[in-house]
Amino acid sequence: MSTDIAFETHLDVEGESRLHQHLRHFWHPVAFSHDVSDDESVQGALMGERLAIWRHDGQIRVFRDLCRHRGASLALGRIDDGCIRCSYHGWAYDESGIVVDIPARPDLSGSLNVGVDSFPAVESAGIVWACLDAEPKFPVPELPVLDDASYTHLFYEPYEWRCSMARRLENYFDFSHFAHVHHGILGDRDDAVIADYEVRRVGGEVRIDAGPFLEFTDNPKNEGSAAAGETYEAWKRYRIFMPNTMLLHSSAGPDGQDYTLFVAVAPLAPRLARCFTIQSRNYALDKDKEFRDLQAVILEQDKPVVESQRPEELPDDLAAEMHVKGADAGTLEYRRWLIEISNGVYEQALAAEGN
Ligand code: FES
Ligand SMILES: [Fe+2]
Repeated sequence: MSTDIAFETHLDVEGESRLHQHLRHFWHPVAFSHDVSDDESVQGALMGERLAIWRHDGQIRVFRDLCRHRGASLALGRIDDGCIRCSYHGWAYDESGIVVDIPARPDLSGSLNVGVDSFPAVESAGIVWACLDAEPKFPVPELPVLDDASYTHLFYEPYEWRCSMARRLENYFDFSHFAHVHHGILGDRDDAVIADYEVRRVGGEVRIDAGPFLEFTDNPKNEGSAAAGETYEAWKRYRIFMPNTMLLHSSAGPDGQDYTLFVAVAPLAPRLARCFTIQSRNYALDKDKEFRDLQAVILEQDKPVVESQRPEELPDDLAAEMHVKGADAGTLEYRRWLIEISNGVYEQALAAEGN
């Protein structure tokens, strides 16, 4: 772990801009795979860049979404014989982004060595990921439980909050808010003590094992717990894939019930985050509606609080906010690492271990 970095202090517009320059070197979620059908294009965005995401023959491509002719959105175009063709005047770009057809001047077609930027793109965890740099620094997050036939998977509709990517993600492992913001569901404000827990770095991840957390039993997550309406002690394991994704495994009622939540957050702009959420479980397989309703309640409770946080980006000076020893250890480690990244240090942890 690097401790001798000369940190810049005081977050401001310049600080946000520096962080976002460095975030260009990492994978970010841009669409659910199932939302990009073959021979279709959709629009995405990352850090102020508009993106055209399209698929042909199963292969995904992510281009800068800006036609070189008159600046129209390529995502509005159509896929034509392996090319994306602009909807405005019909220029066609091949899979590497080069202009190969100009319908108004066919004699020029193929002779112009111009094109749009094509960004690295992969599919993992049911999501299309893109990187605005040629060489992504950390591995793309994976979600092996998607291949487990004994689980059901709920893909929530992506949503946007007016907050930074980091504030949004940190909210998931900010343990001491559970009892206050989610009183009666994920905690009890009259019993809000957080036990010390373990935090460590493994590869490109922060790992957290924490608990017990008092949760209530009269909600679908903890279905089948001994007595409805009473509290249940949940244990939670987190894998935080730096810098923008987390996978939570939580115990959920009777032994063997496994609840996982995978959340990937795209920084659309410094103060605008888009969230891609996949919830998997090996119980209550026919209760999607109940789980959707629960998610809606939790999000409505969190949203006003997270959007109210100032500064909108996490301070890149750790002394700018106060931290509670033990309770805030997870968010503090995430911040330390994010500050390293915003200072251009992209080191993964040496220690590697199994899941
Ligand atoms: S703006 Fe795209 S072809 Fe003219
Ligand atoms: Fe919350």
